[in-house]
Amino acid sequence: MKRILTGIKPTGSPHIGNYLGAIRPALALADLPDTEALYFIADYHALTTVHDGAALAHLTREVAATWLAFGLDPEKTLFYRQSDVPEIFELSWILACFTSKGWMNKMHAYKARVADAGADADAADAGINVGIYTYPVLMAADILLFDTDLVPVGKDQVQHVEIARDMAQRINHVYKAELLRLPAAKIDEQTAVVTGLDGRKMSKSYDNTIPLFSSAKKLRKTVNQIVTDSTPPEAPKDPDTSHIFTLHKLFASAGEVAAMRERYASGIGWGDAKGALADKLEELLAGPRAKYDELMANPAQLDALLARGAERARAYAAPVIARLRAATGIRVKP
Ligand code: ADP
Ligand code: TRP
Repeated sequence: MKRILTGIKPTGSPHIGNYLGAIRPALALADLPDTEALYFIADYHALTTVHDGAALAHLTREVAATWLAFGLDPEKTLFYRQSDVPEIFELSWILACFTSKGWMNKMHAYKARVADAGADADAADAGINVGIYTYPVLMAADILLFDTDLVPVGKDQVQHVEIARDMAQRINHVYKAELLRLPAAKIDEQTAVVTGLDGRKMSKSYDNTIPLFSSAKKLRKTVNQIVTDSTPPEAPKDPDTSHIFTLHKLFASAGEVAAMRERYASGIGWGDAKGALADKLEELLAGPRAKYDELMANPAQLDALLARGAERARAYAAPVIARLRAATGIRVKP
């Protein structure tokens, strides 16, 4: 039985890039035989950047409801909120005591923030909170607490999984025991990068997203904002240079894609191309949207579902923490 675990940071409203790049592949992984999946909402990771309480609370529920709306089965997959599992924070401290500051200095996310701050090192130090700096320690605790084998992540997170592995190795070495299981990152090379309204990578940072759950009317309006050129409607078009087509392709069947190619070749107006894409998205999103709306209308029920997941997760965590407390001398039987 392989244990797979991943964290989802609730820092923005989920968009179709998140669905294709993260949600859909993770749900498929959870369905594989001989696998046990643990998926959690990394709300304390989001606190490194989201400092609006109402927004963080709402985003956490939005993200949880999104995964459930797309079919995550909380009976099969352990689904919980990071903040509901206090053992993570205890392990985080233990790991911090075995992590050199030099390791943290090398982490991409931190280095990028330092680079953004330019030449003034003091300004950089003042502008980066310690939560961001030690973010990889908390992430390692998320992973190592559950004897995780595989961590499905995007390329940008691979370094964090590797450092978690290094921390586990160091602790096992110091105490001469297999206290922590060594995890490995799993990157899905197949996953397409979904383009946004302006043709760049779809990302909340670029404000170019198609949100998964707005109203049907709003969805259509957003699709209409996809940037196009001024080729006249009747002119033949190359589907492979159109990002409307690129998006359509990600959701349509092979037959639908072939039919669409022909429409482009014989001249389709951009308005009609957008209309067809909006129809396709609506067809796929109408069902999950209804489920999502229902979940969001009952926040107490949603919180309770996450809390039940956390209770089950804590039962897995208890023996790991007990092992570490004993080995470190924090709790040795008299
Ligand atoms: P954003 O770029 O909007 O801030 P995140 O960085 O929070 O999104 O990404 C969350 C997950 O969704 C990651 O696993 C990431 O790889 C995936 N993802 C985000 N944007 C895209 C995209 N445009 N195409 C494919 N996957 C994406
Ligand atoms: N750092 C990850 C991200 O930014 C989210 C995350 C937190 C995570 N803890 C994790 C991912 C543990 C995998 C495993 O997307």
